[in-house]
Formats: sequence, structure tokens, C-alpha cells
Amino acid sequence: MIWLIIFFIVFIAISITMFQATFIAAPWVPSGRKTINKIIEVAGIKKDDLVYDLGSGDGRWLIRIAKNTEASKVIGFEISLLPYIISRVKLLFTRKNNIKVLFNDFLKTDLSKANVILCFLTPKAMIKLEPKLKNELKPNSTFISYAFKLPNTKPHSIAKVGSKSLPIYLYKY
Ligand SMILES: C[S@@+](CC[C@H](N)C(=O)[O-])C[C@H]1O[C@@H](n2cnc3c(N)ncnc32)[C@H](O)[C@@H]1O
Repeated sequence: MIWLIIFFIVFIAISITMFQATFIAAPWVPSGRKTINKIIEVAGIKKDDLVYDLGSGDGRWLIRIAKNTEASKVIGFEISLLPYIISRVKLLFTRKNNIKVLFNDFLKTDLSKANVILCFLTPKAMIKLEPKLKNELKPNSTFISYAFKLPNTKPHSIAKVGSKSLPIYLYKY
């Protein structure tokens, strides 16, 4: 009986945080390996860069960036419990000590320390994020959004994995 109650509580917690994330910014929709490879290619991540992934899902971008670039630190922000727990478990098996995932709302997080900021969200989230990026990002920071563009900022460049794939928008601040 106690296991049934624990299962029910965990199920409710997972469902509530999933709805919350979807309502605030975006649902959990994992992206493909080719997408993050392309993002790494266009981001130009350098040795001392601090990389933030806004809505890091199951941590796939964080792990790939930590393994394939010289970024000093890679930090993910995630508020949906299921992908957050999955990413923490994946990090336990990743022999990299420069990755961190925080159970934090990125809209309530100071973004000013990051040099490179990545996301895959929704058009609604881009509207909320645009003024925050403008106020907080320091000069020479790079912002990359997969699939959705900022409504009022001109991208520096647009890349694609293939002709039918979604765009990767790159912005320079
Ligand atoms: C479309 S998924 C992208 C996941 C991952 N970047 C990938 O490509 O596989 C968006 C993620 O953002 C998370 N999210 C939505 N709003 C958030 C917020 N305000 N703070 C932190 N994470 C959020 C969702 O829970 C979801 O996991």
C-alpha cells in the first residue's frame, strides 16, 4: 500500500511539473543528435566559455557539449521533474566534472555570467526571453535558439542540418 502511495505522489509531482513547464515556456520534446552537433559547429564555443542550456531536458545537449568542446562549464536549467531526474542519472555516468543541472526556472535566473546561451523552446518563450537577454547578456555573448526566433531581434546567421530541418538561429550581443 505504501508503495502505491509513493508511486501516486511521484506521478502527481511529475505531472504537475510537466504541465508547469509547458505553461511557462515549453514542453519536453527531445531533439536529435544531428541538431546538437550542428549547434556546436555554429556556436564556436571556446576554452573559457560558460554555456547555459535553458530547458535542458534529459541533458543530452549538456553532455555532448562537455564532451566535444573546451567549454569551462556547461550548466542546464530544467523545471520538469522527469527530464531533470533523467539528466541527473545520466550525469552520474558521464565522466565529466564541468557539467551541472539545476532545478531552476531560467526566467528567474541571472543569465549575465554566460557567454553562450542555447535553447529549444516555443514562440511564447521567445517573447518572454527577448527583453531578458537584452538586459542581462554581456557584450560578445552568443545566443542560439533551435526552431524559434526572437520576435524583434535580427539573427546574425541561420543554419540548418538539412533542407527540411528546422532552423538554428544565432544571435550576437
Ligand atoms: C523542447 S524541450 C528541449 C530539451 C532539450 N534542450 C533537447 O533539445 O532535447 C524544452 C525544455 O524546457 C523545459 N522548460 C520549460 N520551461 C522552463 C523554465 N521556465 N525553466 C527551465 N526549464 C524549462 C521543459 O521542461 C523542457 O524539458
